[in-house]
Order: sequence, then structure tokens, then C-alpha cells
Amino acid sequence: MSNLMNRRILLGVSGGIAAYKSAELIRRLQDMGADVRVVMTRAAEAFMTPLTLQALSGHPVHNDLLDPEAEAAMGHISLARWADLILIAPASADIIARLAHGKGDNLLTTVCLARRCELAIAPAMNEAMWHNQATQDNLAILQQRGIHQLGPASGGQACGDIGMGRMSEPSTLASEVSHFFETGLLAGKTVVITAGPTREAIDPVRYISNHSSGKMGYALAQATVDAGAKVILISGPTALPCPDRVTCIHTSSAIDMYQSSMDHLPGCDIFIASAAVADFRPATIAEQKIKKTGQDTMHIEMVKNPDIVTAIANADPKPFVVGFAAETHDVIHYARDKLQRKNLDMVVANDISDTHIGFNSDDNIVTILTAESEQYLPKANKFQQAQRIIQAIAKQY
Ligand code: CTP
Repeated sequence: MSNLMNRRILLGVSGGIAAYKSAELIRRLQDMGADVRVVMTRAAEAFMTPLTLQALSGHPVHNDLLDPEAEAAMGHISLARWADLILIAPASADIIARLAHGKGDNLLTTVCLARRCELAIAPAMNEAMWHNQATQDNLAILQQRGIHQLGPASGGQACGDIGMGRMSEPSTLASEVSHFFETGLLAGKTVVITAGPTREAIDPVRYISNHSSGKMGYALAQATVDAGAKVILISGPTALPCPDRVTCIHTSSAIDMYQSSMDHLPGCDIFIASAAVADFRPATIAEQKIKKTGQDTMHIEMVKNPDIVTAIANADPKPFVVGFAAETHDVIHYARDKLQRKNLDMVVANDISDTHIGFNSDDNIVTILTAESEQYLPKANKFQQAQRIIQAIAKQY
């Protein structure tokens, strides 16, 4: 079965002579099972009629950010949510510049800003425009943000020049796009994932916890299920809904999470520890609410919690074990130390000193470490990072 079966591709068509190839591209994507919807820029309409692309895609073509009727039917946010992947083909020098600078001045750029999925661009332009430093700088910015670049190819151009800048052929693009959906990477595997914070009770009404939102672990659960695995998500308290097709087990304290992880060890092929587990817990939990009367200070004796991931990594037989390292400094150094000390197969390291990424934010930047390798993943939202992490696990496993 094709990787594109039932996948939703939003095809962005920007202005350029290569827009005529978008008709064939729709066909090639559909042949592979994809559902394609089209967003065109006004400039694209000078090269290709929306009616043609509407007839081929079987859906109305979207082109206006400010059309209340179109927005009411499927607005820019719904379009962005609908897509499993946005592919801009052809991507003109102009749309590349707009994307690089985060513009939201037309429907296509706005949908790209609002997206939660991967974005790929297939540049197409005259070779002098391609080599222009401004274009190259913009492309470097996009690459840094994890936006995929497909092509361009070299060859004869519409203007008569020969060189780089031809849009890749539709069949090549369709096949490259299908690699984004390498489903079945973990088919038949059972994956246990810990996520979220733990709560360590002090008395019946108080606890010690941390700021983990659980977003990364939940995104991993979703990406793992999408890769064909059976997923058990052992979660501390979070505000997140259980992802579709995932078995969620709700826990509170580190001891609960430890017990549940051990219970699910038999049959577990891959264990991913993304939870922010409290290292210590109060030595005793007061049976009654602690009163402040007569006290100016308060001392809580703390005892060490079991290290869940280390216990799993030292079991026999042991699954493939992935740990996380959230650090504020010397990130790679401490992450490597964790890899060895905890006997892990892989560590996903992230820098939590930057509040725009990591803990409790929607985006993060991570580095995947194994004993032999180090792979840097540029900034992306947690779901995109989760997909990349799952691909890396599937490769190593
Ligand atoms: N972890 C765990 N059980 C614990 C503590 C941590 O399973 N009791 C796991 C986390 O889920 C994560 C990894 O261990 O995958 C790293 O956690 P961290 O607390 O950062 O590591 P520590 O070894 O406790 O190092 P530090 O000195 O930085 O606290």
C-alpha cells in the first residue's frame, strides 16, 4: 500500500510558469492515494486557472484570505489543521521570501504560518533568481526551520536559459512526498511511553510537581501509533486528551508511574521515557491536612524516587530504551552522561534554558544521541519532532 493512502496534501501553487505542472502533480499524488486540496496565490492564477485545479482535485480551490464565504466553509485555520503535509509547488522566489520572513499576507502564507504539519517547497525560478544571494539566504532560513526543499533540477528553462531552477518533475515530487509518510515503520511493535509530570503528595491537599505539560510525550504517542505500533501511554496528570488509538494509563506519583511501567514491561519492544519524574518525594504523607498554626518554617524530609528508565534499561530482557535529557547548560555533555549512566540506547536532549522551546512550549529543538551518533533536529513543533524521533528510533531499533 502506498505511503500516501488517505493522506491529506495541501498543494500550494504560487506564481510561475511551472504552475502548469501542478495539474499533473495533483494526478500523481492522487494516484498514490492522497486527498489533495489546492491553495493558489493570485499570481498563480495568471498561469493556471483555478477551475482546472478544482476539477482535478475534486475540491474548490482556495485563494482568498478575506472572502467571508470561503472562510466560513473552510477557513485558513481549518485548512492548516486539515493538512497532513503542505507542499508548495511551484515555490517562487517571492513566496520563499515571504515564508522566510513569516508573512501572512495571503491565504497560502497564512496557512503556512498556522500549520502544525511538515512543509515542503519545490522551488521554481529563473537560474539568476535562484543564485541571487537574497534567495539563497531565504532558503537557508527555511532549511534552518526544518522546512523541506525538494529540487530544483537543472536544465532548460522557459526563458531560454539553462541552469538550476527548474521545478522537479511531478512524479519525482510525488515520490519524495511519499517518504514523509513512511508508515509501518514500527508495525507490530509494542511501545510504552511515559509522559507528563508526577505529583508527590505532602498531605491530602498538597503536592510537589513540575511544569511538564506532557505535550512531547503525547505527540510521541500519536506519532508512534501513526507508525503502526501498539502504544501504551503512562501519563502523569496533564490537561491533554488521550490520543486516538492509544491506551492511556493515568498515574499520579513517581511510584505509581514506576509500578505501571514495570507492569507493562513484558511484551514491550520500545520504552520511551519522556516523563518529568520527580527525583524525590516526601518521606511521609501526612494523613491529615498540615496546619500552619504555630509554625514559621516548615521542613519536609524527601526520599529518593526509583529511577523508572534505569530500572527498565537494566531489566532482562530489556526493550530498546529511549530517555530524555532536559538541561539548562552543557546539554550534550550531560545527555551523553545520562546515556551511559542509565544504560540507554538513545537520549533525546533538549535545552530548556530558552523558554521559547522545550518545557511547556509548543516547539522544541532536540539532539538525538546514541553511543555512535549525534543528530541535531532544528526547531519544529513537538508533533514534527515526535515524527522525526520515531523515524530515528525505527532506524536504530
Ligand atoms: N527518569 C525516570 N525516572 C526518574 C527520573 C528520571 O524515568 N525517577 C527519566 C526521565 O523520564 C528522562 C530521564 O530519566 O527520560 C532523564 O531524567 P533526569 O531527571 O533529567 O535525569 P537525572 O538522571 O535525574 O539527572 P539530573 O541530575 O539532571 O536530575
